[in-house]
Formats: sequence, structure tokens, C-alpha cells
Amino acid sequence: MWFGIKFAKGGVDYLSVSKGGRFEDAKQPKIGEAVYPYTGESGYECMPTVLSDARGPFGRNVPLAAAIRRALRDAGHATPVVTSGSITTFEQAEGILEREADCVAAARQSLADPDWFRKIRLGLGHLVRRCEFTNYCEGLDQRHKQVTCKLWDRKLDPTEPTVRLASDGKRRLLPPSWTPPSADWRHRARRLLVGSACALRIVSDQWRDCSVTLFVEGRVSMALDRSAHHVHRLSRDR
Ligand SMILES: Cc1cc2nc3c(=O)[nH]c(=O)nc-3n(C[C@H](O)[C@H](O)[C@H](O)COP(=O)(O)O)c2cc1C
Ligand code: SF4
Repeated sequence: MWFGIKFAKGGVDYLSVSKGGRFEDAKQPKIGEAVYPYTGESGYECMPTVLSDARGPFGRNVPLAAAIRRALRDAGHATPVVTSGSITTFEQAEGILEREADCVAAARQSLADPDWFRKIRLGLGHLVRRCEFTNYCEGLDQRHKQVTCKLWDRKLDPTEPTVRLASDGKRRLLPPSWTPPSADWRHRARRLLVGSACALRIVSDQWRDCSVTLFVEGRVSMALDRSAHHVHRLSRDR
């Protein structure tokens, strides 16, 4: 808190609060190996795994960030505070943003799924590849290997010959790319809005498994049920 206030007084743009692994409590390395700061208690707190204690790994640094933020506000500083540490869902992030931090950051979840922000923004949270917090990635880092995620680094499709591999030749370096289905949806929606008659034809041809609601100037104009046989006209075309 003391440092936080000093930094705020000094005019930093924001404070990013997490916990770091320390050399002081690191495990004794094997003969010939370098000491690694994430092997002791501080390292565990920095990157808690799912095999955690009763508290679990999620949002473990948040109380620390919240306490520093409170101290800053009490001292009259509006410096934004960033928190991180096993933050992986929209609900969790939104809850933290209500009063504990001004910004949330995510390392492992972003490695597991670099598109998770976009997926959430598009309402496709069910497509997010959730980090499993077993620290496979950190284990690679510990052995000075290129960091990849176990959720996608062995997904090597032989039809993708251009995929870049890690130096061990066994793992892909980047996750498979993801294209939002919304691009296709927007294209269809444009066609839908061309006119009601045309819309009905497209709907009955292509959207047989969907429920469709057509909005005109923010009000529901038409709703189509799943069977694609009934259109309920809820307001007249204007
Ligand atoms: C592979 C890997 C390497 C990391 N290396 C560092 C590092 O060099 N220095 C550091 O302060 N934190 C490092 N971190 C910790 C992250 O910055 C972050 O504080 C931590 O992973 C908790 O956030 P998360 O739960 O969103 O992953 C590393 C994390 C990972 C997964
Ligand atoms: S390897 Fe992937 S799933 Fe496992 S902790 Fe790292 S980012 Fe998460």
C-alpha cells in the first residue's frame, strides 16, 4: 500500500497488482539446474493450480488489489488498479469490476483461448476454451521450453502444413485460429432485412432449426418459431 500510494503520487497511469514468485522460498534446484522462483509458496500464490487448497485458485489476488485500491482512494488518488490471478469468466470479471478493481487481466486463460474476450463480447461464452489451471505451461517455462497450452498444442491437423511448431517439433506454437460465426450471421441478417417476403423465404429455407426475431427500430416486428412454419407479426411494418 505504501508503494502503491508513492507510485500514484508519482503519477503512474495505472497499478497492476499480482503476486510474484520469489527466489527466497524457491525449492533447491537439482544439481546443474538453475533455481526457479515459482517452486515455493510465493510461486504457488502467484500461479495457484486447480489442485489448490480449500480456497481454490480463482481470484486469489483480488483481495490484495482491492485493499491497495481502497488505500489509494482513501488517499485521494483515482489511479486505476488492475488485478489478475485465475480470472476466467465474464461473471467473475464483472463482479470484480463492481468494486474491487478497475481492470482485470488474465495470463493463463488468455493462453488457453486468446479469443475468449471476443467470444464473450459476442455472447458465445459457451465456446470459450477454459484454462484447467494445472500449470503445464508454467512447467514448460520452468524448463526453459517454448510456452504452449496443453489444450491445443497437440492439435496438429495434417491439412494445415503451414502451422508453426515449437523447437521440439512436437507442439504447435499458436492455437488453431477461430472465426466468429457472427460474420456469417450478419451476412444472413442483411439478407433478411431486404424485405419481409424475401425474409420469409430465406428463413423457411435456411433457418429451419432457429428461432428468429426481427427488430425494426428497436421494436420486435416479427418472431419466427423453431418449426419455421409460423410467423407472428407483432407490429405492423412502418
Ligand atoms: C508461462 C508463464 C510465465 C510467467 N512468467 C512470469 C514472469 O516471468 N514474471 C512474472 O512476474 N509473472 C509471470 N507469470 C505470472 C503471470 O504474470 C500472472 O501473474 C499469473 O499467471 C496469474 O495470472 P493468471 O491466473 O491469469 O495466469 C507467468 C505466468 C505464466 C503462465
Ligand atoms: S497449459 Fe493451458 S490449460 Fe494448462 S494452465 Fe496453462 S493455459 Fe491453462
